Amino acid sequence: MDHFTLIDGALHCERVPLARIAADVGTPVYVYSTATLQRHARVFREGLADAGPVHLAYAIKANPNIGVLNVLAREGYGADVVSGGELSRALAVGMAAADVVFSGVGKTDAELVAALEARIGQFNLELEEEGVVLAALAAARGLRAPAVLRVNPDVDAGTHAKISTGKRDNKFGVPIHEAPAMFARLSKLDGLDLKGVAIHIGSQLADLSPLEAAYKRVGELVAELRAAGHVIRRVDLGGGLGVPYRDSDVIPSPADFGAMVARTTKGWDVELMFEPGRVIAGNAGVLLTAVIWVKPGVTNPYVIVDAAMNDLARPAMYDAWHDFRAVLPTGERMLANIAGPVCETGDTFAMDREIDVVKRGDLGIFRTAGAYGATMASTYNSRALVPEVLVDGDRFAVVADRIPAETILAAERVPDWL
Ligand code: LLP
Repeated sequence: MDHFTLIDGALHCERVPLARIAADVGTPVYVYSTATLQRHARVFREGLADAGPVHLAYAIKANPNIGVLNVLAREGYGADVVSGGELSRALAVGMAAADVVFSGVGKTDAELVAALEARIGQFNLELEEEGVVLAALAAARGLRAPAVLRVNPDVDAGTHAKISTGKRDNKFGVPIHEAPAMFARLSKLDGLDLKGVAIHIGSQLADLSPLEAAYKRVGELVAELRAAGHVIRRVDLGGGLGVPYRDSDVIPSPADFGAMVARTTKGWDVELMFEPGRVIAGNAGVLLTAVIWVKPGVTNPYVIVDAAMNDLARPAMYDAWHDFRAVLPTGERMLANIAGPVCETGDTFAMDREIDVVKRGDLGIFRTAGAYGATMASTYNSRALVPEVLVDGDRFAVVADRIPAETILAAERVPDWL
């Protein structure tokens, strides 16, 4: 459920007309709903009510805007970060360092040190050598780094290949069958407080069975580690729960997910950690855009909008579907292709799609753009970096400025030999 609805025939975000945001801020612009973020944060937490003590670390990569992070910090969420930049954001919005998890397959020494010095609550180790280096960096500072070992359970998450992470040949985690021996070696290191294990098998999962299969393998691993004498206190079950991108999508709810977790992890006697991203932010945001032209095509007209693949990369990268709606729908529909101005055929949001009738100058939205939207934007084709707006009831604020092409140009230099 979200808070982008028609009020008196005009699309609003909560009680703010999207046309007002377009007039004030210009287009393209991302618009986020505070009420939707809060609702998703609460529904996800409630879904896990029967799963015992849980820690919730919002995966910042999904939407790192500090306005959004602030809302989630107030909902009691910590953060899953994958870079020093994301760590800075979590700390900047006042999330407790103890509630920060550092994931990622390529943490640099500088990033490990920054996270150690911030006293984050959990490092997710992606390879044995990372544990050795982290232990040394921690011991040199008189610290013990709290850590878990990320295992690769070799489960096919059944999602797009580019966002699948739990197959044997993916770059993430250590092979699950090698984990016991590695755990034994790492747990001997003074600079490491090895608390347990972690997994994350992929994103936009539309079916719970791969997750359940992966969790069962982790349960077996926990039993094996305990049998070997290790104390296992924490298991990080990652993120990955999908969201509906179109009305016909059937996706398990957070309640279904929570019931599966409670069933599968019964008796584990650990603190569970989750790293949800998309399920919190996805349907809490839209990309608001204006129609530049309706260009006749061979079969369908091309609706050329002022948003492009540099603003929302998902259709070009993952063939993703984002619903399109007119801000002032007339009730009439048409068959169209929707594309942006970037000089690539891949800069196409939809082909052969039945959409609300729009004409030059009209406004429209791409839905479900709150996760992996603005954060993946670029300035390709020397376009501006897209701005972001946060709505709360009948008020709104620009939470990220549009960075104009001139500002980006001003950061470049011609070397003095030219
Ligand atoms: N934890 C780890 C270790 C991750 O790698 C990810 C996402 C998450 C948590 C959050 O997963 P979520 O709950 O959002 O599914 N750009 C792609 C998605 C990439 C996801 C990468 N990892 C997209 O637009 O679909």
